[in-house]
Amino acid sequence: MYRYAVIISSDKGSQNLRVDGGIPTIQKCMLNEPFEMVYSVIVPDEIDKLQAEILHSADELKVDLVLISGGTGFSVRDVTPEALYPLLDKHTPGISEAIRAYSMTITKKAMLSRAISGIRKETLIITLPGSPKAVEESLNYILEPLKHGLDILIGSAQECARKD
Ligand code: MTE
Repeated sequence: MYRYAVIISSDKGSQNLRVDGGIPTIQKCMLNEPFEMVYSVIVPDEIDKLQAEILHSADELKVDLVLISGGTGFSVRDVTPEALYPLLDKHTPGISEAIRAYSMTITKKAMLSRAISGIRKETLIITLPGSPKAVEESLNYILEPLKHGLDILIGSAQECARKD
């Protein structure tokens, strides 16, 4: 089982002005998969609050995976990539590129996503768009290779399989 945390970046969600659809959507995608959600939180779109939750999830809870939804767009309040960037040890652009490339086949607006992803110590951290629809599309697309990446990261797989 991989342990994961979910952070939702949403001003309205954090004030209960909007019912959050992100957490249940992620849980639905992870159903029947070897993933256990050990922590979830909704924070306003603020760099210091996002960073505090990223550090709590990665450094204290030591989860294998952190999924952050929201705050990747063009609004002045969207700061998720800026919060995550300085906390990463390594960047994993392929994951975010793959999400964007696949999402572009669904909507050209996917090019507006500034999502990034990377590794902090032994935790993979991926940012996703804010809408539950986009979260579901993105997550379902990356789930299979993601498991292989996590196996390598946490050391249970040493090398890539020759066959896909
Ligand atoms: N990706 C997928 N798969 N499906 C979508 O509907 N919406 C896009 C994009 N990525 C979308 C998507 C839109 S409209 C925006 S503005 C950006 O993600 C940024 O989203 P965010 O501001 O909610 O983080």
